Amino acid sequence: MKRILVTGGMGYIGSHTVVDLIENNYEVIIVDNLSNSSKEVLNRINKITNHTPKFYEVDLCNYNDLENIFKEEKIDAVIHFAGLKAVGESVAKPLMYYQNNLISTLNLIDLMEKYDVNNLVFSSSATVYGDPVSVPIYENFDLHVTNPYGRTKLMIEDILRDYTNVHPKFNAALLRYFNPIGAHKSGLMGEDPNGIPNNLMPYITQVAIGKREFLGVFGNDYNTVDGTGVRDYIHVCDLAHGHVLVLDKLFTNSGLVTYNLGTGNGYSVLQVHAAMERACGFKIPYKILPRRDGDIATCYANCDKAEKEIGFKAQYTLDDMCRDSWNWQKNNPNGYKG
Ligand code: NAD
Ligand code: UD1
Repeated sequence: MKRILVTGGMGYIGSHTVVDLIENNYEVIIVDNLSNSSKEVLNRINKITNHTPKFYEVDLCNYNDLENIFKEEKIDAVIHFAGLKAVGESVAKPLMYYQNNLISTLNLIDLMEKYDVNNLVFSSSATVYGDPVSVPIYENFDLHVTNPYGRTKLMIEDILRDYTNVHPKFNAALLRYFNPIGAHKSGLMGEDPNGIPNNLMPYITQVAIGKREFLGVFGNDYNTVDGTGVRDYIHVCDLAHGHVLVLDKLFTNSGLVTYNLGTGNGYSVLQVHAAMERACGFKIPYKILPRRDGDIATCYANCDKAEKEIGFKAQYTLDDMCRDSWNWQKNNPNGYKG
């Protein structure tokens, strides 16, 4: 049984990936400092899979604590989700983002070298494409970043490109996620943002549950189908499965590989809002607000490369994503806080 260290495994995407790994007979070891997650996730993983993975509450920025895990555990591959991810916060606190996201990753790669662990999956983001010249976006498009969060993703990609160039034994997958939404079909796991959500889906579900008055739609004067921003929303379980698929590729000594993980479809804010109303069966109030700084009009992926090379193809529709997001929110109005 292969043993996978999952950093950030208590978070939104990490927890769904842990479930998929367990269901595919991997042994999972989670490391997370719980800075943006809850220990309750372990109970939920157990309810879904009948198994509780080993968990270390450790900050990856603490080299010695992280090294103790490498001393203790035999590891075949690492999936590295741990990181801070709020764009606005990264603009306000750039040093915090550079410290957390870069030092944690440098520690991790250093220890992987020291303990001869040669397979790494890294959570990158479509944010590395900036405002693309055209859509759909292919992996070979130019990379531009506009905020400290995005810069940490691009810097880590560059570090891994440089590192794999001179370490032929080392394999790394850069997975560029588009917009993950949705939740586990059981209603036991989902996205649990702290405070006021920045992202569209958790904001809409909080309006639907009555926690917020209305959805603010950020701009309706973009050059899109209805003037609102278009994104490639992907069900978090589809995204999670992409990580399981890419492990097999790494185990063939693939070197560095880069894949977009999306659905290849773009939906506007108002189309997502309408799909959420269908899922809930009632009206969800919204108001048109000015554009949000830093937003682009349209972003969606071409995912042919991931389909061809690792057999990745998203299965869930936008209606499925909304159904599962609503099911999670309805069953857990306060997220994991009970
Ligand atoms: P999340 O915040 O839910 O999960 C990240 C986890 O990492 C959290 O549990 C947090 O406690 C942990 N963590 C953060 N810093 C740590 C550290 N120094 N040591 C140990 N643990 C630490 O986020 P998510 O949505 O699951 O995202 C996972 C990864 O995917 C992140 O790297 C994020 O940047 C990237 N990503 C997310 C999205 C998205 O829309 N959610 C899109 C593109 C890329
Ligand atoms: C945002 C980040 C991106 C990050 C991703 C995942 C910005 C500019 N981009 O992507 O770097 O990788 O989250 O964390 O923050 N919208 C509304 N009202 C809302 C919220 C969003 O209209 O209350 C609109 C946005 O304008 C956008 C779409 O919904 O058109 C999706 O927004 P969001 O969920 O925040 O994702 P991104 O902006 O694509």
